[in-house]
Amino acid sequence: MSQQVIASTAVKARRLSAEEIVEIEHEMTLYPDKKAVGLEALKIVQKHQGWVSDESLLGIAKYLDIPAADLEGVATFFNLVYRQQVGKNVILFCDSVSCWIMGCEGIKSHIKDKLAIDYGETTEDGDFTLIPVPCLGDCDKAPVMMVGPDMHRNLTPEKIDSIIMDCKTIQD
Ligand code: FES
Repeated sequence: MSQQVIASTAVKARRLSAEEIVEIEHEMTLYPDKKAVGLEALKIVQKHQGWVSDESLLGIAKYLDIPAADLEGVATFFNLVYRQQVGKNVILFCDSVSCWIMGCEGIKSHIKDKLAIDYGETTEDGDFTLIPVPCLGDCDKAPVMMVGPDMHRNLTPEKIDSIIMDCKTIQD
């Protein structure tokens, strides 16, 4: 998923929610300085908002009193901070070597056919976003992917169908 930089000076900082502030304040007790809290603050806002908009990024920078450009640098470096809106379910699909050897290309094609999306895209109904990631550390059970916090191993087209069905059932 491509990253972005805040292009417009017209973008206004979003006021962080009370929940976000409580969690960020907690992180501030664990790190030596506010700058170090930046990544955790981005993750907290993403957990609550689903992604990190320009307005949210500016809101965090303002709250932590650090330059927005520094925070943008952190967000760009850490590619699981989503700077564009993502679907309700983000599929982190491993396309590293073991998964590739074990046929992840065929699994990816199945996902692509089923959801009509490619890497970096979100389904029209906003239910799924597909993102390629490097090795998820479960190579002996390749092919592998994560959906939200759940790791799915030894993927087959049938397993993909059932995972997608489960995600839709949980949402409904
Ligand atoms: S290469 Fe896919 S989990 Fe390691």
